[in-house]
Amino acid sequence: MSLNNVESKTAQNSIEDFTKKKSGFTGKLGFVLAASGSAVGLGNLWRFPYLTAEYGGGIFIFCYIILAIFFGLTMLMLEIAIGRKTGKSVIGAFPALNKKFKWFGYVCVIVPLIIVPYYCVIGGWVVKYAWSFLVGSEGLVGAENATVTGEFFTTFISSTWQPLIFFLIFALFTIIIVAFGVQKGIENISKILMPALALIAVFLMIYVICQPGALEGVGYTLIPNFSNFSFKTILGALGQLFYSMSIGMCIMITYGSYMKKSVSIKSSATQIAIFDSIFALIASLIIIPAVFAFSNPAEVFKPDGDGPALMFIQLTNVFNALPGGRVIGVIFFVLVLFAAITSSVSLVESIVAVLCEDGRIKRVVACIIVFGAILVLGTLSSLGNGALANVEIFGKDILSAFDFLANNILMPIVAIITCVFAGWFIEKNIIPKEIGIDKSKGMTTYFNVIVKFVAPICIFLILLSGLFIKI
Ligand code: PHE
Repeated sequence: MSLNNVESKTAQNSIEDFTKKKSGFTGKLGFVLAASGSAVGLGNLWRFPYLTAEYGGGIFIFCYIILAIFFGLTMLMLEIAIGRKTGKSVIGAFPALNKKFKWFGYVCVIVPLIIVPYYCVIGGWVVKYAWSFLVGSEGLVGAENATVTGEFFTTFISSTWQPLIFFLIFALFTIIIVAFGVQKGIENISKILMPALALIAVFLMIYVICQPGALEGVGYTLIPNFSNFSFKTILGALGQLFYSMSIGMCIMITYGSYMKKSVSIKSSATQIAIFDSIFALIASLIIIPAVFAFSNPAEVFKPDGDGPALMFIQLTNVFNALPGGRVIGVIFFVLVLFAAITSSVSLVESIVAVLCEDGRIKRVVACIIVFGAILVLGTLSSLGNGALANVEIFGKDILSAFDFLANNILMPIVAIITCVFAGWFIEKNIIPKEIGIDKSKGMTTYFNVIVKFVAPICIFLILLSGLFIKI
């Protein structure tokens, strides 16, 4: 075995170990937990609620659910099946099924490379909030109203050094875990911490919903108001779907490559999708009703309202109102941190695996290269809220521009190419067979029609209309 192979084997150890019986789980549960570790993260807790607020509440969630059922689940099954069929990660999997597609694996890697740096910036904000609740920072804990908690956040992100330091802490933590290949340890801990996070989240949801005025927020979140609809809503929901389920950048191929043959792709993918969506929905049902109970919805939901700040400001308001809220605040943000770390590790891992697999580079060197990229792009994203606030790309600050580029442009493009590849350029029925639906004619036809026609055409149209048509 060449050094290369040794490196790339180490690179994917964690996923492999996770799906082995010795982890104490059955193959299926191990796989579902590992993939959910990647899926559930800041996308569910931070991004989903603020997009729900930005795109008009229930209508956004309505679009999201429709897209999740028709495209999300199909893409998830498709990526996992490509991985399991070939037993290879993203670089090897495509040429194994069609030699002409070797280039595509490299294109896929661009997406995590853009996401990781700003993911680490937001991860840094979470570290800051966990720390501030712990030490009881003034202006945060016990702040007399929502304006003060809002100011605390704005002062923090617009300063130069503080967000940079917290970003560095989060980024270093991620890189060290990947460099030493200790993902398995982190995933083992998160097997306990993720359910704990779910429990606290449900508790917070019930608490917030019981506050005066909050029910209006529940209605805003759950009842679609079609007058808030535009093509941007669907594009936003589509980008969020890819981001949240960790699809549209082909990392689920790597996960699939370590999945046992005996495990059902259909039911595992369904479980991951449901788990991920429920997490996101609960987060929205904490944060949006909290706006109605503790802040001024007219201020928060105006076009340039709270945006990415929403989770941080609103949760602070909830913890300040809750008896014993400071302790719960610390626990909650630490748990969010773990959810974020399992996701950022999976993002970095997918880049490092590719560098090691084809680039004849050692794992540690690959980690240093990725860290360098994170440092440069992450610093720009972080400063985009302060020193570089006047720099605008697509009319957005630097962090939001990276986010938009990755989720709303690149991920849909990767998804389209993946569908075209699987629908038109590989042997017929390979994928339905791998998923285990080939015995049912109806299911196979449904899957083929979605992959060959509906998904690529619709995603293409959504992409175009979201970018160019204003309603
Ligand atoms: N799905 C993760 C989240 O919700 C983010 C992520 C995106 C991770 C893409 C891996 C790949 O936070």
